[in-house]
Amino acid sequence: MFDFNLVTIEDLKKLSASLSIKIPMQEGVSILGQALQIGPLTAPNRLAVNPMEGADGDSQGRPGELTLRRYKRFAAGGSGILWVEAIAVVPQGRANPRQLWLHDKSKDAFANMVAEARKAAQASMGSQHHPIIVAQLTHSGRYSRPEGVASPIIPQRDSYRDAMIPQQSPIKNTKQAIPDNWPIVTDGYLDGLVEAYVQAAKLAFEVGFDAVDIKACHGYLISELLACYNRQGRYGGSFENRTRLLLAIIDAIKQKLGKDKTVVTRLNIYDAIPYPYGWAVDKNDYTKPNLAEPKKLFALLTERNVPMINVTIANPYYNPHYGRPYDRPIVGGYESPEHPLRGVERMIRLTGEMQRVFPQMVLVGPGYSWLRHLLPYVGAGVLKNGMAGIIGAGRMALAYPDFAKDILIKGKLDPNKVCITCSACSQIMRDGGTIGCVARDNKIYGPIYKQGRLFDKAQGRTK
Ligand SMILES: Cc1cc2nc3c(=O)[nH]c(=O)nc-3n(C[C@H](O)[C@H](O)[C@H](O)COP(=O)(O)O)c2cc1C
Ligand code: SF4
Repeated sequence: MFDFNLVTIEDLKKLSASLSIKIPMQEGVSILGQALQIGPLTAPNRLAVNPMEGADGDSQGRPGELTLRRYKRFAAGGSGILWVEAIAVVPQGRANPRQLWLHDKSKDAFANMVAEARKAAQASMGSQHHPIIVAQLTHSGRYSRPEGVASPIIPQRDSYRDAMIPQQSPIKNTKQAIPDNWPIVTDGYLDGLVEAYVQAAKLAFEVGFDAVDIKACHGYLISELLACYNRQGRYGGSFENRTRLLLAIIDAIKQKLGKDKTVVTRLNIYDAIPYPYGWAVDKNDYTKPNLAEPKKLFALLTERNVPMINVTIANPYYNPHYGRPYDRPIVGGYESPEHPLRGVERMIRLTGEMQRVFPQMVLVGPGYSWLRHLLPYVGAGVLKNGMAGIIGAGRMALAYPDFAKDILIKGKLDPNKVCITCSACSQIMRDGGTIGCVARDNKIYGPIYKQGRLFDKAQGRTK
């Protein structure tokens, strides 16, 4: 467990020096307020709410009351990009029974949510404030759980992750292996998903989203395909085969819905899982990234006029300390084996390396929430040094929906409102509840957290 005790930029400099790492930072934060052209769209500032799943839709995938509340609060918070959470394109690919799912019968509820978010953004920031609203389209692959029990759709056997299918309510925190005779998804099934993504993208544009994200991160289906070195057939083996589904979906959307449609992706650039199951890792030492294939893929995405990539790394079930540095783990999770600032630095450095090679691509950088009230200074330093185009905030936005507005107007964050990386929101997710910030939005999420913990104790599973 880590105790965050940084007060000033000087403290952060001293800690970085003691860890022998370099964190860009600067005192002036006005750079975060600059507008940015992203393809045909304009972000009014350089801050983004990163996608944060709430598991609070209804059984048909329609946004629920808490979903609406969250996006109105995020929108009023003033960020230039509102990156809406994972939305399933097919029911069997939902990660939980309340995951959002976009289809003909849920589209009106999505239209209402987008319209309400736009209204809230303008009411708070003025009539000229138009955030870019992105829909993250997903298939959960091995993490599919549409009816509340694990129903993995796996593109390969993975000796690391097959032994570890995280369960949520009603069966929790158990480690259950995928049986040996569990089927591997066929090429025909993957072929059929292209049209499912096109249909979901069509609806997303119809209901008012500005862009669609073909989610390719965190070990979900398209992300796992990138590492299917040993899969047979058209989706495994070569780089061309492993990237086939992602690129086919982007091409099909452009071809069927129009070249002017903005398609982006949230992409893992490093899985940190041993080869041959992890993508972009050194084959002999998975703790070292190898960005050669991400660079090849970025070049193909550039050719396809993808104007923005939301960069991320690792897997929230297998190795969460890489992608969301924390002070405290979830129950049954593990203590961070490294100082969380090392995780923050790794994400900044890897994103910066990609941005250096692809200066025209707008990169959204992840993983700043651990920095608490020092986030704006590091974010400004990252932009100044050309190491990202947009600073993304995940847990910070859950804890402090107004974070962008405070940075833009007051030039700083209130230390009493920031995320404290306690992992309680991730805990609710594992316990099968509706997700929000337990520390800063306690009236609503405190009881939900407690209920999940009590249930877990009653099942005798709490460590
Ligand atoms: C509860 C929770 C839900 C999340 N849901 C999503 C999601 O739907 N899609 C996604 O790409 N990332 C998701 N993430 C990852 C975040 O977007 C972000 O990358 C991560 O929290 C690290 O950034 P941070 O340090 O700013 O929190 C989620 C993270 C948490 C804690
Ligand atoms: S519960 Fe709140 S404070 Fe804790 S990690 Fe989640 S967002 Fe941060």
